[in-house]
Amino acid sequence: MPKAVVLGAAGGIGQPLALLLKANPLVTELGLYDIVNTPGVAADLSHISTPAKVEGYLPPDDGLKKVLTGADVVVIPAGVPRKPGMTRDDLFKINAGIVRDLATGIATTAPKAFVLVISNPVNSTVPIVAEVFKKHGVFDPKRLFGVTTLDVVRASTFVSEILGDLSLSKSVTVPVVGGHSGVTIIPLLSQSSHPLPSDFSTSSLEALTKRIQFGGDEVVKAKDGAGSATLSMAYAGAEFAAKVLRAIGGETGIKAPTYVHLSADKEGGAAVQKEIGTELDFFSSVVELGPSGVEKILPLGKVTEYEQGLITAAIPELKKNIETGVAFIQAPKL
Ligand code: NAD
Ligand code: LMR
Repeated sequence: MPKAVVLGAAGGIGQPLALLLKANPLVTELGLYDIVNTPGVAADLSHISTPAKVEGYLPPDDGLKKVLTGADVVVIPAGVPRKPGMTRDDLFKINAGIVRDLATGIATTAPKAFVLVISNPVNSTVPIVAEVFKKHGVFDPKRLFGVTTLDVVRASTFVSEILGDLSLSKSVTVPVVGGHSGVTIIPLLSQSSHPLPSDFSTSSLEALTKRIQFGGDEVVKAKDGAGSATLSMAYAGAEFAAKVLRAIGGETGIKAPTYVHLSADKEGGAAVQKEIGTELDFFSSVVELGPSGVEKILPLGKVTEYEQGLITAAIPELKKNIETGVAFIQAPKL
């Protein structure tokens, strides 16, 4: 009887994500929360003929507490998106406080919920949630996920385009590891389920890697000031949430890349740290999901020299992003 909750449900991602969750028959209750417009979004969705009972809440009258009561899965797309010329890190000033406050609500009302963080910069907002949970003594690394599925979705789409058959995009899988911004996005194209053409040149491989790493910028530029990816993100977020819901329901062997605290699986996390040659706390890895969340963190496996270079380039940036998130809670500036 899973209850799914969307925090930031009236936004560009929140609305289509709420629609896709309402369409998922595994969801029996859908709670929507935002600082504006959720009663209208909830009323609209509630007419759709699927099982989920929908309710919308605003901040007054303890709305956050009410929406989170009984929540099993909480997805957070609350916060501001980028405009052209901005990096995801530029969003930290505003989004860090939003995510901290929402995480506090989850820690106090639904500490056992699975938390899926979409709000950028993901590399820092996920550590913020972890630190808030630690402060409240409820941190379970198996239940906290940074949603990096859009990078995975982009990799599948772009590889299928190159293979000349978009109908393959549902079955093409490429592990994308590291983090969720620019050079921290590391597509392991050598491990694509569908290999690239044998005559694929080095420069084409570099261009494809860059396109996956900076796919977000492509959308920000095209939207020309009207925000960043919303519809593709809602699709990706709903895909990842569906995997978590299936795992909660007892299905085994479900795998997905996601940005996790590497202590979620001590042995698997330590193996990844060994592979990347440093003891980062967070790293997006392929994980196996189970009823308690992260069951296993899988090794990166064999990578090419080029991919090894991408990992090396990502680490300093990731380290800085993680430290920024942790410091925001542990040592807040006055
Ligand atoms: P948006 O501005 O359209 O929507 C954000 C929503 O959050 C708004 O409805 C706003 O009212 C709400 N909000 C703000 N403060 C809130 C609070 N304290 N509590 C509850 N709701 C609050 O933005 P968007 O395009 O939906 O993007 C949302 C976030 O998702 C951005 O930070 C964006 O960068 C990020 N994003 C992440 C990914 C990813 O791959 N992880 C992809 C796309 C976008
Ligand atoms: C994306 O990858 O599309 C998101 O992280 C939004 C952005 O700012 O690019």
